[in-house]
Amino acid sequence: MSSPTPGAHCTARVLANGPLELRGSAILLNGEPVGAEAWLCRCGASASKPWCDGSHKTAACVLTGEPPLREGRDLPESGAPLNLEPQPNGAVKATGPLVILNDAGAVTDRVTQAFLCRCGQSARQPYCDGSHKRAGFVAP
Ligand code: FES
Repeated sequence: MSSPTPGAHCTARVLANGPLELRGSAILLNGEPVGAEAWLCRCGASASKPWCDGSHKTAACVLTGEPPLREGRDLPESGAPLNLEPQPNGAVKATGPLVILNDAGAVTDRVTQAFLCRCGQSARQPYCDGSHKRAGFVAP
């Protein structure tokens, strides 16, 4: 995938058996800029949470690259930042216009807020379905 177009909405591509690939002109972590691209761990194995450190390869994570196809919503004008807020022992709250893509790069959803699974247990990847509680997921 190419670099984001200035002012374009941030995208989250669900990589099969891998992380969530974020691209956008303004990605923030708890309000602090992190750049134009980032990879969010979604298997729970990374030692660098919320970021992917490649541990999904050695942990042999099995994660779908086909998120649920949803109608989504009309997004506001582009250029707004995407702010990520990891929730203690839970999902990453993403706030801002975000286009969800499957592994092949096709649009599957458009959201303005989402709770993104990072424990690897959700049946609705990349969205949290609350399974982290049952799994006893621990992360700061
Ligand atoms: S963080 Fe994985 S189900 Fe909530």
